[in-house]
Amino acid sequence: MTCVLYPGSFDPVHNGHIEMVQTAASLFSEVVVGTLMNPSKGGGLFTLEERMALLDECFAHLPNVRTTMFDGLVVNLAKDVGADFIIKGLRAVSDFESELQMAQTNQAISGMHTLFLPTASRRSFLASGLIREVARLGGDVSDMVPAPVFRELQKKSVS
Ligand code: PNS
Repeated sequence: MTCVLYPGSFDPVHNGHIEMVQTAASLFSEVVVGTLMNPSKGGGLFTLEERMALLDECFAHLPNVRTTMFDGLVVNLAKDVGADFIIKGLRAVSDFESELQMAQTNQAISGMHTLFLPTASRRSFLASGLIREVARLGGDVSDMVPAPVFRELQKKSVS
């Protein structure tokens, strides 16, 4: 039984994240998807509660996936949920430097290790920040996000 924590901002969850969770669910017995604030990214578009509701809707069909949200250190959440490892996706070499630094910091303060999984190349350009920007300016992001997220992005842009 291996339980992994997949942490992220998920503001909003996009098809690259969906692929990561599906892959992790096929590799590990239990996957916890944890929404956390990224202190370097500011307030964001969706509240933590809204992000988690979308994650719940997107992963309802995967029995070994559960979701949670947390305000604090990711390593404390990892311990709370009983995770053996943290997992992170790597889209490109440009992700590696910051992800390695976070993994080493988390390992230094808690002993918790991070495993990296590569994103499929056809989805490696996806980024929540760009998706928010394109959606806000009226561009089509329907191929980049799951249907529930597309629905909620449309609501945000008309409100
Ligand atoms: O999707 P993101 O924005 O790349 O996710 C980054 C996230 C939320 C995983 C990271 O900012 C984080 O771990 N935040 C919680 C606070 C924390 O533990 N900071 C120390 C990380 S070394």
